[in-house]
Amino acid sequence: MKKRVLAGMRPTGRLHLGNYLGAAKGMLALQDDPDYETLFTVVDIHAITTPYDATSLQQSVRDVYLDYLAVGLDPEKSAITVQSDLADLITQLSFYFSSVMTVARMRHLPTFKDKVKQHPDYVTMALLNYPLLMAADILIYKAGMVPVGIDQEPHLEIAREVARKMNEQYGMDFPEPVRFATKGEYVPSILGEGKMSKSVEGSAIELGDDLDTIVARLKKAPTDSGKGETVPTEGGVANLLQFVELFQGEAKRREYEAAYVGEGIRYGDLKKELAEAIFAELQPIQERRRKLENNPEYVDRMMREGAERSRAIAEATVAEVREKMGLRK
Ligand code: TYM
Repeated sequence: MKKRVLAGMRPTGRLHLGNYLGAAKGMLALQDDPDYETLFTVVDIHAITTPYDATSLQQSVRDVYLDYLAVGLDPEKSAITVQSDLADLITQLSFYFSSVMTVARMRHLPTFKDKVKQHPDYVTMALLNYPLLMAADILIYKAGMVPVGIDQEPHLEIAREVARKMNEQYGMDFPEPVRFATKGEYVPSILGEGKMSKSVEGSAIELGDDLDTIVARLKKAPTDSGKGETVPTEGGVANLLQFVELFQGEAKRREYEAAYVGEGIRYGDLKKELAEAIFAELQPIQERRRKLENNPEYVDRMMREGAERSRAIAEATVAEVREKMGLRK
């Protein structure tokens, strides 16, 4: 039997290089691997766990869905859903999961603590339940493989714990989901500190950026004199070299490293070449996206079909859980 894969992204607007390299590249690799059955989703219910705008939420969902299709996720090969089309089943399962996890375990999660710091006035029950909703996204399809960035590891650990507990206490046969890692599992901010993120202004390059925008964004990446005794392993220069490796290859990175301890790097040239290499990869994605924007009916149909295909599997899992937990069928 094929192994199942599930991955999702929050509808926070257009995707950036972190989403692309850390998650989408893994999703694409698994979609094209005949050993796997792939299901992907845009997780709009997760979006309501932090402050959001209800009037534009579905526009953001569409943005991510279009980016999914534009990067090459293929509804012929993968079921691609909007999470709230299966709200009845997924939120239901997440509630059942909440009965095997303690409040103490959920409160101590580093991702929860980060969000509490970010939005101290929005520490809701939904936020505490966020990882259980994610566990439900995955386990509702009994998916064992999850292509996500390394930042999602604490959430996957929760999904594994839920699976173990449901298996032990109720005789379910959930797999313990593991992360499918890519080379870009941690994409740094272009500003030299922390990871690339939607919530940090100026940290990201988006999939929709044109060449001028990419050049302008990279201009702000901090650098140094361009030479020294050892190549920096953290900060702006280290991050730039990581982008060089991801978009121009390891050999190019080694050239720059040699230049750093030798005649020096000219960052103006480095940034220009890097911007061009990034844009060369984004340009075909942008072209596909423009075509899809002109065909909203196709996108609507794909959303509906994705939901139908996924619902059949999800219904069977929820029915099984209800029966094993002693609830009415
Ligand atoms: P989200 O929406 O924050 O991010 C979507 C995906 O992009 C990855 N990512 C990164 N990878 C590498 N470097 C970065 N700088 C970077 N920034 C983001 C994330 O790791 C993620 O893979 N909780 C999830 C959404 C989710 C989900 C799921 C994922 C809900 N249910 C089920 C997988 C399976 C999240 O907030 O991702």
